[in-house]
Amino acid sequence: MRHLEREELVKLLNKPVFHHISEVADELDMEAYVVGGYVRDLFLERPSKDIDVVVVGSGITVAEALCKRLGRGAHLSVFRNFGTAQVHWHGEEVEFVGARRESYSHDSRKPIVEDGTLEDDQRRRDFTINALAICLNKARFGELLDPFEGVWDMEDRLIATPLDPDITFSDDPLRMMRCIRFATQLNFEIEAETFEALSRNRERIKIISQERIIDELQKIMASDSPSRGWELLFQCGLLEIIFPELQAMQGVETRNGRAHKDNFWHTLEVLSNVVRTQREQRNDNYLWLRWAALLHDIGKPRSKRWDPQLGWTFHNHNFVGEKMVPQIFRRMKLPMDERMKYVQKLVGLHMRPIVIADEEVTDSAVRRLLFEAGDDIDDLMQLCEADITSRNEQRKQRFLDNFRLVREKLVDLEERDRIRNFQPPVSGEEIMERFNLPPCKEVGTLKTAVKDAILDGIIPNEHDAALQFVIEKAKRMGLSAE
Ligand code: CTP
Repeated sequence: MRHLEREELVKLLNKPVFHHISEVADELDMEAYVVGGYVRDLFLERPSKDIDVVVVGSGITVAEALCKRLGRGAHLSVFRNFGTAQVHWHGEEVEFVGARRESYSHDSRKPIVEDGTLEDDQRRRDFTINALAICLNKARFGELLDPFEGVWDMEDRLIATPLDPDITFSDDPLRMMRCIRFATQLNFEIEAETFEALSRNRERIKIISQERIIDELQKIMASDSPSRGWELLFQCGLLEIIFPELQAMQGVETRNGRAHKDNFWHTLEVLSNVVRTQREQRNDNYLWLRWAALLHDIGKPRSKRWDPQLGWTFHNHNFVGEKMVPQIFRRMKLPMDERMKYVQKLVGLHMRPIVIADEEVTDSAVRRLLFEAGDDIDDLMQLCEADITSRNEQRKQRFLDNFRLVREKLVDLEERDRIRNFQPPVSGEEIMERFNLPPCKEVGTLKTAVKDAILDGIIPNEHDAALQFVIEKAKRMGLSAE
């Protein structure tokens, strides 16, 4: 963070749009301030987004006058119900609102709003770092108003509320999610009393819509340290309410002196490992690979068993997890499209490379893996490598070496056999035509036999060899060619 004196703020606000607002506000004899995230991000040297302006008086009146002054190229939208207006001009988006005082009822996020002073307006905001205002009127242009010492909190890297945190969170419980999101995005600590209020008010999150909650969770997931966000959610007790399946992964059970690992903390470690590997390269699926990391073991609590010989087992947890993915996506209001399918596929397949690496790395096993993972094979391998969190260095090295072998074989087989986007070299139509068959079970049997023969390396992935194989197989099945 940087310390900014008034002259520096004047320079940073030296944009035509601010000068126009300044002159319009002076003409109307109203005070205008740039507030909120825009001011915070000036101090934190983050890229600025939309501009929020608070007017002591009517925000709509200033927006209308500004639009008139800017003339063609400016576009005004007025939301009378909310007392706000937006001006779009040359790629800038400025939102105007009158300074207000708000009071809330217990069962709703909708406040009763009255006109107020600038300080009333700052007081009703969520965090001290979001409650800064800079005056735009000419005589005081660049003057900072920071009654809740947000600058100090930025200096100390703290998230704190301007009012008693119980009031701030109870007024608008979405702020509890925002609190953890900002702490995660900015790598700030949450001030102790504010943190305690998160725990005390956590039940209030239930009045917030899932769409808003998932918005914040996606921002946490896209940040540089999403695991820290999940850890904070766990520590304050919000996780239990918003994501019980993840909460259920926490804990260690011991029987006859045998304990299993804590799957919650393991998961966060895997998520962090994935994020680390994405520093070098990231594809379009990067956010969904993070979700796959978060959910890869989600089936474990439901598949946990005690076996007197084997100890704790989690048989088929990948398949149980695969089934849970669509249910979780639907409830969480995550997209139910190919992104969900991608996460589901990775969760379902995440044990395969480990099983292969644990035994002998055969061509046939690698070909089958490639066939099932298709274009997502590299992401799957990335997830599986991130999944190795063993503290036993020797064991860890053995897995990593075997994974390298799997990767080498993948490249080699892909070049030879083009399995990744496998299309059977003999189609169902060709089989039906050659043996004069209607669509029937035998056609399916022959197709599967060809696929298996190719994946097992019995025949190459080529039309003529495949056709010859089909003819011989058909003969054995008692079918004759035309
Ligand atoms: N605000 C608030 N309570 C909320 C949402 C917003 O007090 N639940 C206030 C904060 O002062 C915030 C401002 O409204 O700075 C603008 O909100 P928004 O645009 O949602 O967030 P930003 O702080 O700009 O940050 P980001 O864009 O990262 O969400």
